[in-house]
Amino acid sequence: MLGIRRKIMVAVDGSAVSDKAVNEAIWLAGSQEGSFKNKLIAVFVKNDRVRDYDDLFVRGIPVEEISERWEKIIEHAFFVVKKLAAEKDIALETVIVEGEPASIIVALTKKHDVDLLVIGSTGKGSMKRAFLGSVSAEVIENAGCGVYVARA
Ligand SMILES: Nc1ncnc2c1ncn2[C@@H]1O[C@H](COP(=O)(O)OP(=O)(O)OP(=O)(O)O)[C@@H](O)[C@H]1O
Ligand SMILES: [Mg+2]
Repeated sequence: MLGIRRKIMVAVDGSAVSDKAVNEAIWLAGSQEGSFKNKLIAVFVKNDRVRDYDDLFVRGIPVEEISERWEKIIEHAFFVVKKLAAEKDIALETVIVEGEPASIIVALTKKHDVDLLVIGSTGKGSMKRAFLGSVSAEVIENAGCGVYVARA
């Protein structure tokens, strides 16, 4: 049967919930057999809300170390998606953009013309919420495609 190659985007921030989103994105992307394999794009937005990563950003670290620390954070954020995509033989592209997460993610769904965005209900933020974090709430409202929310 002829299939259509779908583009699925997953937003990762290095949290346990975004790893859940990755698992579900892999499951969705891997659901098509044969030559019409789906493509997965994983996105990490570098933002200045460093408090999300204060386990790695202690106060007063030398400026030269900041980019090294970002590299570690990004490597960690992409670790699970890279591992699972390789295991399942799913074509993966990773994208790193600097800016405000929600508007960047929305813009990327349009730029890459994705068919489905997978996002976690919450993320690195430490505040306990009923259901949605600020990034997922804004993305769901503005995305130009369907959004699949992986629940915490
Ligand atoms: N910087 C980011 N880059 C890529 N994806 C992100 C980023 N921040 C959040 N996300 C995505 O959005 C989901 C929800 O995170 P969100 O930031 O909305 O919740 P939170 O961190 O708990 O709350 P808040 O940031 O409002 O304090 C994450 O699981 C992840 O999929
Ligand atoms: Mg957050």
